[in-house]
Amino acid sequence: MSDQTDLPPPIIALCGKGGVGKTSLSALLTTILAADPKRRVLAVDADPAAGLAAALGLEVARTVDDVRNELIGRLRQGIREEGRDMQALADYRLFEALEERDNIALLAIGRPESEGCYCRVNDFLKVLVGELAAGFDAVVIDGEAGIEQVNRRVMTGVSHLVLVTDPSERGRRVAESIADVAERAGMRARIGLLVNRVREEGEVRRIQAATRLPVIGYVPEDEAVYRSAREGLDMTGLTDNPARFALERAASSFIGFRSAI
Ligand SMILES: Nc1ncnc2c1ncn2[C@@H]1O[C@H](COP(=O)(O)OP(=O)(O)OP(=O)(O)O)[C@@H](O)[C@H]1O
Ligand SMILES: [Mg+2]
Repeated sequence: MSDQTDLPPPIIALCGKGGVGKTSLSALLTTILAADPKRRVLAVDADPAAGLAAALGLEVARTVDDVRNELIGRLRQGIREEGRDMQALADYRLFEALEERDNIALLAIGRPESEGCYCRVNDFLKVLVGELAAGFDAVVIDGEAGIEQVNRRVMTGVSHLVLVTDPSERGRRVAESIADVAERAGMRARIGLLVNRVREEGEVRRIQAATRLPVIGYVPEDEAVYRSAREGLDMTGLTDNPARFALERAASSFIGFRSAI
């Protein structure tokens, strides 16, 4: 990151149960990190249902899955290419798939990979996405709901795994099972629980007493966040906002970045 040049850029993934606020908080976190104009932030929409682009005021023209299908199509047509040429094409297409505004870039993954057959294409796309990420000062990944991505080890390069939950019991349990899978898979990320949509003190105490995970922060229920998601609005304009302040506090101590404000 630009303020900690000796450390590799943080790759932060937000995972958790469906509907707990992963996309909203990913958009806010991207905005918080990008508030420092020297910091280039890559936001990755890894949820096939998408939504992060709209929350960042961007439009997706091409996804990683589209690039993958194009490459597979060429293999199927029997276009024989040197690995080098295919790599160059994939590189170029991925670069085209980046949507950028100021110091924020967005890459949408599209559909999850089907297992098996096209390992070669899948493998080097993984490498290329990794290389692409290395060109940024921070990466924020909006994960799909549930445990699958951690299970499929798509999150191998992640340095910080933020498990998002609402104050519900089910949300907390899903977060904990993701943590179990991540630990069993040998994922080396730092793991923390972020409690979203908190309305009252009692919810904070209940979660604290129940969870074995380190709680990194609490984000309040916030009318502006609610409205933005419901109306599909750009959230980058939410500056003077309690949810954003709470997330900024939680993230700066968990990830260790210096706040721009
Ligand atoms: N802090 C908050 N205050 C008020 N509403 C919130 C807050 N966080 C999220 N929401 C609302 O919760 C709903 C789900 O949010 P969001 O789409 O970000 O969740 P998600 O985890 O990405 O969902 P999915 O699993 O479907 O991708 C939206 O209507 C959003 O406005
Ligand atoms: Mg989402």
